[in-house]
Amino acid sequence: MCGIIGYIGNKDACELIIAGLKSLEYRGYDSAGIAVAHSGKLEIRKAEGKIDSLIGKKLFENVAGTGGIGHTRWATHGAPSDENAHPHFDCTKTVAIVHNGIIENYTELRDELKSQKHKFISETDTECIAHLLEGKKDLFAALKELHKKLKGSFAILAISAHDNALYAIRESSPLIIGIAKDELIFASDVPAVLAHTNKVVILEDGDIVKAQDGRYEIYNAHAKNGVERKVRTIDWTYDMAQKGGYAHFMLKEIHEQGIAVRNALKSDIRAAVEFVKNATEIEVVACGTSYHAGLVFQYIMKGLTHKKVSAYIASEYPYTNCSSQGTVAIAISQSGETADTLNAVKIAKANGAKIIAVTNVIGSSLDRLADATCLLYAGPEISVVATKTFIAQLTVLYRIAFECIGKKGGLEEVANVIEDVLTKESEYKKLAQEMKDEEHFFFIGRGIAYPIAMEAALKLKEITYKHAESYAAGELKHGPLSLISDGIPVIAIAPKDETFQKTVNNLEECMARKGKGIAVSEQEIPKARLIRMPAVEAIYAPMVYIVPMQMLAYYIAVANGKDPDRPRNLAKSVTVE
Ligand code: G6P
Repeated sequence: MCGIIGYIGNKDACELIIAGLKSLEYRGYDSAGIAVAHSGKLEIRKAEGKIDSLIGKKLFENVAGTGGIGHTRWATHGAPSDENAHPHFDCTKTVAIVHNGIIENYTELRDELKSQKHKFISETDTECIAHLLEGKKDLFAALKELHKKLKGSFAILAISAHDNALYAIRESSPLIIGIAKDELIFASDVPAVLAHTNKVVILEDGDIVKAQDGRYEIYNAHAKNGVERKVRTIDWTYDMAQKGGYAHFMLKEIHEQGIAVRNALKSDIRAAVEFVKNATEIEVVACGTSYHAGLVFQYIMKGLTHKKVSAYIASEYPYTNCSSQGTVAIAISQSGETADTLNAVKIAKANGAKIIAVTNVIGSSLDRLADATCLLYAGPEISVVATKTFIAQLTVLYRIAFECIGKKGGLEEVANVIEDVLTKESEYKKLAQEMKDEEHFFFIGRGIAYPIAMEAALKLKEITYKHAESYAAGELKHGPLSLISDGIPVIAIAPKDETFQKTVNNLEECMARKGKGIAVSEQEIPKARLIRMPAVEAIYAPMVYIVPMQMLAYYIAVANGKDPDRPRNLAKSVTVE
């Protein structure tokens, strides 16, 4: 969702803020803007559109100053427009702010401010914050007061025309400070600071910060005593967050999946395994691709251990009769910041469940809420759609399940098999070329292949904008079969396990109704086109069979001129419910 960046140091702030915003583009956005302080004035430039096009329109030219803030906006309150783009400013244009999150009581704040004759320019919930700071000589003190007034989630940066300082405040929305020599970089996400430093302070809820002259001071609105935040060294590098010669981040990240398995083997899962072994019941909460990893876990865990495991879409979890003492809730989230997942975790925790986090981001909100965290070590994932973090999540989840029954090994070999599958890229590209004009796709599978059918359909719809549906293969005849007509592609995920023959039968039913049958399998299926998979122990099929499906989605998107890294309307890290 929205991206935030702030810079205070001795270099040209505008140039660095734009570079930071570009590195946050992957989060998804529709407008962008900056505010830079210079000679007692604020220079604010903002507009709807992508950063490259705004640079092309010379929006950010001739902006001098060594302190400033920037923002990429993903519209929530008010349509994408120049006025609604951040930064927002007060009536006197002496304070500018950028904000991630949602101010829930903005209507009453706005009414109150309007009655005091403040003039509003945008339709956003954010603008009231700038007006609340209007005329305040000491912004640090003003932010402490502001924190009491605002309800909702917010990461806010503020800059004043009158001092060479940056101010920040965080509540339920991520914000970090990158610490470099004589300069401080605020950002909503780690990749935005990697060009400067890998030393970061991860701010916590209630933190209010003043940064000036290379130093920072933190006050916490919830803490009774002073606060100390440790400076962490992040083991991600600037190069990891670059395309490295690939046309898109997604393609690079698909190719990193063998390494992702090997790196996830290093994750410390001991505490998580203990919780799981002792659990009376296991709940899994997650969204999107992470939910599909949770579903695979549900199948393998039930098959291996007979434990009661239920995977929930995190946003639906509050409406279930869920968790109690003895329950272990496993929250899966690559970002560790997905609002729906965090909300589910808070409910589970309040009901007495122990929380295990499976996340790629150390220090993320999820990591901090959890009783035990299994880190993915997948490196930064920049493409909006998840690929390598999915494989890393599966690796960690398989390890947890295997540890419960004392099964050893196997996953190292899966990394090699994935790399073998990746060498067949040209075949998947060719198939994508042939299928690029299809408008409807069906994916089917049974057992552990069903979540892979779901993930394959999700990948395709996310980046190609084509209609893709997934079904448990046995469900087709209970309704969806009526949709199968001449030439509609039906892709069966068909590993050689006990589900194989039944899935084949269901594919045959589709082909009998003139559907175009495609099988992802190690065995030929009569009349169906085969995407041949290497022989692999059936339990590992989800980790291997998803790879050609990611490639297919990628190449169909590219063949249709779509940008797979930045799909329309979607955001990498969804920090609102
Ligand atoms: C967004 C992304 C998806 C992702 C989901 C969950 O919707 O676009 O790719 O799967 O969030 O994200 P998380 O960070 O919690 O895994």
